[in-house]
Amino acid sequence: MAESQCPLCGGTGWRLVERVDANRKAERVVQRQDATPGASVRPTKLAWAVPCDCSEADRASRSLARARIPRRYEHCDFENFETDVWEGGQEGTAWDGSLSQAKLVVQAFARNYPVGGETGLLLMGPCGVGKTHLAVAALRELMVRGHQARFYDYRELLKELQASYDPDHPVSEMGVLEPVLRAEILLVDDIGASKPSQWALDTIGHILNKRYNENRVTLLTTNYLDRAENDPAIPPTARGQKITASREDTLVDRLGQRVRSRLYEMCRTVEIFAPDYRREIRHAGRIRS
Ligand SMILES: Nc1ncnc2c1ncn2[C@@H]1O[C@H](COP(=O)(O)OP(=O)(O)OP(=O)(O)O)[C@@H](O)[C@H]1O
Ligand SMILES: [Mg+2]
Ligand SMILES: [Zn+2]
Repeated sequence: MAESQCPLCGGTGWRLVERVDANRKAERVVQRQDATPGASVRPTKLAWAVPCDCSEADRASRSLARARIPRRYEHCDFENFETDVWEGGQEGTAWDGSLSQAKLVVQAFARNYPVGGETGLLLMGPCGVGKTHLAVAALRELMVRGHQARFYDYRELLKELQASYDPDHPVSEMGVLEPVLRAEILLVDDIGASKPSQWALDTIGHILNKRYNENRVTLLTTNYLDRAENDPAIPPTARGQKITASREDTLVDRLGQRVRSRLYEMCRTVEIFAPDYRREIRHAGRIRS
């Protein structure tokens, strides 16, 4: 819907653009209508109705809402995902290149979909390294190309499912589950974030199995790694501190062997080790957004 207050289109969703057209054909058509003998030939103003920006913006934000992409992530794309702030940047840090590598992998996944044959990506890494940003960037690019995608926060999804068990709840369990199972591309953000109950593990296991069997693509992000935080393979920074998930638990502790093993099968694993962008860049005032 166009904005009723829009000064450009007055709420119609269309605005007229004029162009002075020196093209002779166009002039002749208008002259014939004019039918004034001997009238001098002047450039003619032509008018087109074009969709107003307000309805374009509206359409884009409605499709983002349908995909349930949270407002906070609406701006995320590949262009505004920076990789040079850390690697070889002014900090002079010895990053392992995982940030730019992750961007390349996720970007290639989006570019090659659906012929790439990838059934999923699992983005792992500590807080604030840009996992959700990258996953949303892929979703948005795919949506622009007409694919249908949905974003679910892991904890929210479990809560919605739990609420649906209440007989007075307006949406049934299947009503909640159906779009999750059927989404062409599903993003489950922050998997493992809630304490792992048997019910939660069975539920996520069921969702992943179903989607995998139907060959549907699932992207996931998680704060949990496959190794404990004191693993020497986790790269140190130039300042000597380790980039850790600050977690004692590994992903298996949060999801159980069965689900982790299913994820190995269906997802390409992408580990990101970088400083927390929220704390190091935004909070430090190096970039505003
Ligand atoms: N490399 C980057 N370039 C530009 N913006 C970034 C980058 N990394 C993160 N951000 C921004 O910083 C914020 C935090 O990033 P994001 O939420 O994607 O991190 P995350 O790894 O998903 O963290 P969490 O584990 O807490 O969910 C977002 O607003 C995101 O747009
Ligand atoms: Mg995240
Ligand atoms: Zn308008």
